[in-house]
Amino acid sequence: MNQNNRPLVEALEYFKERTPVSFHVPGHKHGLLSSLPEGMRQALSYDYTELTGLDDLHEAEGIIQEAESLLSALYKSKRSFFLVNGSTVGNLAMIHAACGIGDTVIVQRNAHKSVFHAIEMTGARPVLLSPPWDMHTRTPGVLTQEQVEKALTAYPQAKAVILTYPTYYGVTGEELEKIIELCHACSIPVLVDEAHGAHFIVSEPFPRSAIELGADIVVHSAHKTLPAMTMGSFLHIRSELISEEKIAYYLQMLQSSSPSYLLMASLDDARAYAASYRESDKRRFMELRSSFIQELKKINHMEIVETDDPLKLLLRYAGHSGFALQAAFESEGIYAELADPYQALLILPLWNRESNPPLKEWKKKMIAAVTNLGKVDDNPAFLDMVTWPDGISVLAIPPYELVNMETEWISIDNAAGRIAAASLIPYPPGIPLMIKGERITEHHIRALSALIEAGARFQGAIHLEDKKLFVLK
Ligand SMILES: Cc1ncc(COP(=O)(O)O)c(C=O)c1O
Repeated sequence: MNQNNRPLVEALEYFKERTPVSFHVPGHKHGLLSSLPEGMRQALSYDYTELTGLDDLHEAEGIIQEAESLLSALYKSKRSFFLVNGSTVGNLAMIHAACGIGDTVIVQRNAHKSVFHAIEMTGARPVLLSPPWDMHTRTPGVLTQEQVEKALTAYPQAKAVILTYPTYYGVTGEELEKIIELCHACSIPVLVDEAHGAHFIVSEPFPRSAIELGADIVVHSAHKTLPAMTMGSFLHIRSELISEEKIAYYLQMLQSSSPSYLLMASLDDARAYAASYRESDKRRFMELRSSFIQELKKINHMEIVETDDPLKLLLRYAGHSGFALQAAFESEGIYAELADPYQALLILPLWNRESNPPLKEWKKKMIAAVTNLGKVDDNPAFLDMVTWPDGISVLAIPPYELVNMETEWISIDNAAGRIAAASLIPYPPGIPLMIKGERITEHHIRALSALIEAGARFQGAIHLEDKKLFVLK
């Protein structure tokens, strides 16, 4: 297959050239009725719908099928799907396809909230595996073979093992292939949220993709690390244990019946970008990355931490939280992906051989930013408390059983021992600190207090101003 082809992009171009008259949705009529600023309005001239020749995402047999076949050929899957509602919908669909009410699923504890939402929606019972704390990135890491083996022995009835690889911070570890083998030896499918690894397909120096390592279903946020529009994602299936039809069934149920063509075209383009990424592109990427790191190292008190994924860099500034560093960068127009108590996380562009970014100018802005921070001695004592003990745990009550139970708001100080009535999610990264149905421990409270003090933002059941949590009565 010719990976330079972009069937969807080409079809939209061709369609536009014919200056079609619109008596159909969307109501902006190719942008004519829109009063958006000109740059935005122009994009609307490609915002079509399921017109003759433009295929249908949910029954693809034309250009969308062609584009998805190119995607599948690139990732060597049995079948690949375009997703128009992010990895969120990929996670929802793959978990719905694997389990139902009362089923046990084994899930990595530091998963994205969409994984827990899917578990709640299906009525499954999660067994949570907490990975060891990764000292290098100061974040929860990835599961070990030993942990998964223990869980499989204790819960042989599990319908799926749900993993996150890499973590938001680019941690992959080296045990995923073995973990997948272990699960397959028990005929248990492995579902991998690889939201942050769509670019792994370009291979070294990037880590290997879970799809290559044998996972049954892999979900990618193409918009996170490839040049796709926000929400544009992929789902790949390569399984003998879960059928393609089931995935297609849930995707058509969970996704819009009016998917954005602009967004899908950007997925087609992102696939072509990854497919055409050559050794010369990788060399240029690594060259630019190492120059950037050298520049950053010249900034006094700045520590640069590299992780398994070369696309991610962590920046720490002595005596200041990651939140403070992020805010300082923003004052100079530099926007990091996220911050935590320790560091700011940068996602580098997947530079290619033509890239020529103004690294020195960026460094200047960063110096200006940190100059305002000043240096303090008392390095903030945000400790390993943001993690939770390693090991296996289950929820006190499965989330879907909580629907009609009575709830109340109580002071954080009195919450230990109570059951969380809603998940509490520092955002970003969107990984729940407390999961709906989980018994709240002193450990949660300490971690929460530290995060509040450090300036974290939250989604979910917290009234920050009066420090209250939402719990079962
Ligand atoms: C690990 C992980 N999984 C899934 C998601 C959801 O992805 P999306 O924003 O594409 O829906 C995110 C988003 O940040 C994530 O970090």
